[in-house]
Amino acid sequence: MPTTDPRQHSPAAERNTAPILTQLQTLLPPRGVMLEIASGTGQHAAALSAGLPGWEWQPTDFDARALASISAWCEGLSRVRVPAQLDVLSTPWPSQIPTAVDAIFCANMIHIAPWACTGALMQGAARHLKKEGVLITYGPYLEATTPTAAGNLAFDADLRSRNPAWGLRELAQVALVAKEAGLILRQRIGMPANNLLLVWGRP
Ligand SMILES: C[S@@+](CC[C@H](N)C(=O)[O-])C[C@H]1O[C@@H](n2cnc3c(N)ncnc32)[C@H](O)[C@@H]1O
Repeated sequence: MPTTDPRQHSPAAERNTAPILTQLQTLLPPRGVMLEIASGTGQHAAALSAGLPGWEWQPTDFDARALASISAWCEGLSRVRVPAQLDVLSTPWPSQIPTAVDAIFCANMIHIAPWACTGALMQGAARHLKKEGVLITYGPYLEATTPTAAGNLAFDADLRSRNPAWGLRELAQVALVAKEAGLILRQRIGMPANNLLLVWGRP
């Protein structure tokens, strides 16, 4: 009987992994513990951890199928921990989610999850980061000072038609909920295909 490969594939993750890795290699210190939120397929966990040889990687997702895919992508990778189930909306986050981590990475969840997840991400990051740790988010955002690319407007409309609770977020609104959690935007890095890599930390 043929076995089913649990690995899911995201063409977007295939495209964006290399540019994200280049930025992380510049932004992050040589070693540390990374908590990844909403790891999805696990492609990022596998490839980004491989490119950051001093880092231990804790992938998470709230979807059981995602956990199986992450495990399969990361099989045999000694610095990637067993993926943990995490719904960012749970309070507090489960005890197996590491605290005092050096960095938290979250790609493409803010716009593909209900808005409450953004506040929950910020609050959880504030609880789980070391004092000097950083939260790095990646994805498309709406900005008052930058005209929204046609592709992002179409993507936003498509997301909202699939789920009215989804959609691109105003960066200013994201910064407000970050501030409520005690985090400020430290760096804004333009990425290919009108995405941003944002670095959040304590003031
Ligand atoms: C578009 S995928 C992004 C996956 C991956 N980070 C990437 O960039 O390829 C969005 C992910 O958010 C996760 N997600 C949605 N709501 C969540 C929640 N409340 N808590 C944790 N993860 C959530 C989904 O399971 C999914 O894996």
